[in-house]
Amino acid sequence: MGSVTHLIVSMFAAITLMSEAQYILGVTKDEPSKQYYTTVYIGSAAMMSPVNLLLDLGTNLTWLNCRKIKSLSSLGLITCQSSTCKSIPGNGCDRNTCLYRQPRPLGKNTVVATGRVVQDNATIFTTVGGQPIHIAPSRRFTFSCAVEKYLQGLAPPIAGVLALSPGEFPFWRQMTSAFNVIPKFSLCLPSSRYGYFFMGTPSLGGKKTVPMSSTPLKIDSGKYLISVASIYVDGVPLTLDPSLLEGGAQLSTVVPYTVLQTDIYNALAQSFTLNATNIGMTETLGHAPFKHCFEEGASGKNMDVSVMEIGLPANGKEVKWRFQGANMMVRVSETVICLAFVDGGKKPNESVIIGTHQLQDYLIEFDLSTTQMAFSDPLILHNTNCST
Ligand SMILES: *[C@@H]1O[C@H](CO)[C@@H](O)[C@H](O)[C@H]1NC(C)=O
Ligand SMILES: *[C@@H]1O[C@H](CO)[C@@H](O)[C@H](O)[C@H]1NC(C)=O
Ligand SMILES: *[C@@H]1O[C@H](CO)[C@@H](O)[C@H](O)[C@H]1NC(C)=O
Ligand SMILES: *[C@@H]1O[C@H](CO)[C@@H](O)[C@H](O)[C@H]1NC(C)=O
Repeated sequence: MGSVTHLIVSMFAAITLMSEAQYILGVTKDEPSKQYYTTVYIGSAAMMSPVNLLLDLGTNLTWLNCRKIKSLSSLGLITCQSSTCKSIPGNGCDRNTCLYRQPRPLGKNTVVATGRVVQDNATIFTTVGGQPIHIAPSRRFTFSCAVEKYLQGLAPPIAGVLALSPGEFPFWRQMTSAFNVIPKFSLCLPSSRYGYFFMGTPSLGGKKTVPMSSTPLKIDSGKYLISVASIYVDGVPLTLDPSLLEGGAQLSTVVPYTVLQTDIYNALAQSFTLNATNIGMTETLGHAPFKHCFEEGASGKNMDVSVMEIGLPANGKEVKWRFQGANMMVRVSETVICLAFVDGGKKPNESVIIGTHQLQDYLIEFDLSTTQMAFSDPLILHNTNCST
């Protein structure tokens, strides 16, 4: 058992003692789609319906297929005049019922989900290995109802999108406020099966053995961004036009592989290719969406080609966020591995969008009380990971 498993077990021991202090939800990775979801129980305590919701850092208001709610007795509509309706970005009105227009998080198509804004009670369970074991008191929760066709593109178990944006009404803010805990949440996305989604401050006690570093979060148009000063490969900074990094890097829990502007992608791929060939791999055909793939040849089954670090500001210093091994490469066949990054084109909206293949097996904390993001060392360096 590694240190984070240990840490989580100790946090869990703490939760059963101080049930109001922190909230731990299970995260499931849907393998074919690489989508990550958690389960929220909607409805009154007597008639709760479990609903699986895609984790999305870019969504402002949770929306779901309300047909999943078995009992509508505790469901309430929100009127257009209410302060809740007025403060929801993208709100609308239909015969005094508040409506919400939510851009869909996946895919390029522009269909926008419009649904009624409603309130119902939500209950969360502390989950370990997919098994709910501790229940937090039910709280009123504001979300919107979407019809079935908006679920297109979501993996079959998923019935909506859990809002985790920095806005006023994301799930984490509603819950931390209802439970009166610090406005903070953390993700430990698993590379397979089950991981963790925490709200509030985990009471780590003396057990916090995985070092964490912090950098300021920049909140812009409902997105989480971090400033990137430089990108290093094996300690050497990539030569890049500084304007490329000006906008910072966006964090995403729905983009599966980090997307880089073409020049950044090419610089990274060039360094990687050099090292891969140095250790006996041979470059082979790309494997969509990946452009750089390698036959492992005599190098053996080894994902450790190069180490990438992102240099981030921290109190006038620089901290480095380190990525290596399975966070950098992806296996596409028995003998072929690819650089797990995607070329986003010459002029994308964001030069860097950090996706889930890179975020998995780190503990990542979004602290909106200090507007900082904290990230752990790669858990793999501490012989552990995010899986339960
Ligand atoms: C719904 O949540 C409120 C607190 O927000 C609580 O007082 C109430 O008991 C809950 N109702 C049910 C039916 O669970
Ligand atoms: C979320 O809300 C912010 C304003 O708070 C807005 O700028 C942004 O476009 C919204 N995001 C989406 C996906 O609608
Ligand atoms: C990649 O190559 C550089 C330069 O030859 C070397 O310093 C570095 O250790 C290599 N990285 C790995 C992971 O072998
Ligand atoms: C870039 O942003 C514009 C305006 O927000 C949007 O319409 C467009 O779809 C975005 N492009 C990509 C590739 O995300």
